[in-house]
Amino acid sequence: MEVTNVKEYQAIAKEKLPKMVYDYYASGAEDQWTLEENQNAFARILFRPRILIDVSKIDMTTTILGFKISMPIMIAPTAMQKMAHPEGEYATARAASAAGTIMTLSSWATSSVEEVASTGPGIRFFQLYVYKDRNVVAQLVRRAERAGFKAIALTVDTPRLGRREADIKNRFTLPPFLTLKNFEGLDLGKMDEANDSGLASYVAGQIDRTLSWKDVKWLQTITSMPILVKGVITAEDTRLAIQAGAAGIIVSNHGARQLDYVPATIMALEEVVKAAQRRVPVFLDGGVRRGTDVFKALALGASGIFIGRPVVFSLAAEGEVGVKKVLQMLRDEFELTMALSGCTSLKQITRNHIVTEWDTPRARPAPRL
Ligand code: FNR
Repeated sequence: MEVTNVKEYQAIAKEKLPKMVYDYYASGAEDQWTLEENQNAFARILFRPRILIDVSKIDMTTTILGFKISMPIMIAPTAMQKMAHPEGEYATARAASAAGTIMTLSSWATSSVEEVASTGPGIRFFQLYVYKDRNVVAQLVRRAERAGFKAIALTVDTPRLGRREADIKNRFTLPPFLTLKNFEGLDLGKMDEANDSGLASYVAGQIDRTLSWKDVKWLQTITSMPILVKGVITAEDTRLAIQAGAAGIIVSNHGARQLDYVPATIMALEEVVKAAQRRVPVFLDGGVRRGTDVFKALALGASGIFIGRPVVFSLAAEGEVGVKKVLQMLRDEFELTMALSGCTSLKQITRNHIVTEWDTPRARPAPRL
């Protein structure tokens, strides 16, 4: 049957993938309250569309950190994409490039920065996990820069891995025919089997729990790439990130895979946008499945959004074609939302185009005296 929206790919992926892989992609942490909330919260934001505006031409282009892209819809880093499809990150890179948008490559990709660069031109960011061994980090950042990556997305919400119970039950580990390609030469490309989640053990062994704001400054001494801090959900941390030299902020709860019972990212967005005071761009990921979600995020002040699971699910279903389709469907839906809201460019999307639960009630009938 024809796929007509992004969400439909999840069921197809579930049918196609081994249980261990599907569960790893789909799961959130613990009760998975935030996992549901990431999508549900979008449904509580409603539109205030404007009418009788000429919407015969719609411009969705935007500029992110100086790079012009075709739409404010980008690809979040998701680890180990070759578990979804043999082409893995190659397919994602090609699909992003064809759509004229940005792909973020995970540190834990099953293809290296050099391999992804070899797929052809494209604007790409590199997501960084900071290992205890800082030589490893410095080498990797240098390789990403040399391979033409344009920015670092520094993930800051993962000093330890969130408790993903399906991974524990399945004893999740990277299949033996795959490696974390960026770390292959460093003897860190394999994941041992463990009595619980193999990934959780890997993180406990390798990832630096001492990571702090001073390391954001340190990172700037080893690279000239701009740094996006990924995983901010409060005003306090927004201010600290800007002080520490961040070039942008990604409001993210890691797709609800880290701390459960944090708010949906769309609920945290406005607080971060206000604290950022337009000094740096603010982006959002988490639960974006419709063009209407993209519009809502932009109306609340985001400069763009990133998608995670829709990429791995469509990759599992149809490889590069699937990822292309996901990007195209979101693009078409977003364009339609703009047209039906009376907006012909991203600049025209305003806070007045939506109404949230936390807005003061408008136009309530005056009580009769
Ligand atoms: C992720 N995410 C993630 N983030 C990161 O910084 N580095 C990584 O390697 C990964 N890997 C990863 C794997 C899988 C399977 C998922 C689902 C997520 C988090 C990701 O970048 C993003 O924050 C969320 O996926 C966004 O939420 P949605 O779009 O999946 O709802």
